Amino acid sequence: MTNNLIISGRGLCRYYRRGSETVKALDGVDIDVRAGESVCVLGPSGSGKTTLINLLSALDAPTAGTLTIDGRRVDGLAERELVNIRRGTLGYVFQQFHLIPTLTVAENVALPLLFLGRTADSGELTRVLEAVGLSERATHLPRELSGGQMQRVAIGRALIARPRVLIADEPTGNLDRQTGDAVFELFLNAVRRDGVALVLTTHNLTLAARCDRTVTLADGRVTPDA
Ligand SMILES: Nc1ncnc2c1ncn2[C@@H]1O[C@H](COP(=O)(O)OP(=O)(O)OP(=O)(O)O)[C@@H](O)[C@H]1O
Ligand SMILES: [Mg+2]
Repeated sequence: MTNNLIISGRGLCRYYRRGSETVKALDGVDIDVRAGESVCVLGPSGSGKTTLINLLSALDAPTAGTLTIDGRRVDGLAERELVNIRRGTLGYVFQQFHLIPTLTVAENVALPLLFLGRTADSGELTRVLEAVGLSERATHLPRELSGGQMQRVAIGRALIARPRVLIADEPTGNLDRQTGDAVFELFLNAVRRDGVALVLTTHNLTLAARCDRTVTLADGRVTPDA
């Protein structure tokens, strides 16, 4: 195994049972992502992008196949161990921000450290707030922010624990084009600056083209890029 390989999935399958029917949401996907690399997952609605993202972020387990994240086999791990992988190795950002409405921007960003039994030293928090352009908004509540700012809080929260992998499912889906563009740039900065491995999905082909690579899904399988 190349030592900077952070994610390695082989033959990843995720089948859902719906009554007597089996939905093959993912059907034998191979994926490798290296440190300092950005990979964009593309494909039509229902092609399996979110299903794949949920496997790569250890939120869901594959029906079949093997998955290694940061050198650890995660397929077959118990939920308790997956939680540790999620907290220690992964940072994620979802389409609907998921901020805690009663916490300030700074508190939302620092939240993951609480789960790790740490508190943010002020330098760390300042660095992340600066990186996502929210230094001036540190004491604001989420409801006082625009959508783009909320998403930047979510990115800050994903970065605070210095994850090796950053995962995002349509992080710009709820943002206008210009705001989405700026948010996308923050992701790419994390790849350049911190050498994280980034996997995200988008329906925006212009944004996708700014990633190092794209992986296109159709009916749960990888299709050769055109
Ligand atoms: N919990 C579930 N139970 C049954 N089928 C599911 C479930 N979740 C997803 N699916 C099915 O799996 C397939 C892939 O869904 P997925 O959400 O991964 O697609 P997607 O590529 O993310 O689509 P979109 O672009 O609309 O977000 C779809 O056919 C979907 O209906
Ligand atoms: Mg989806």
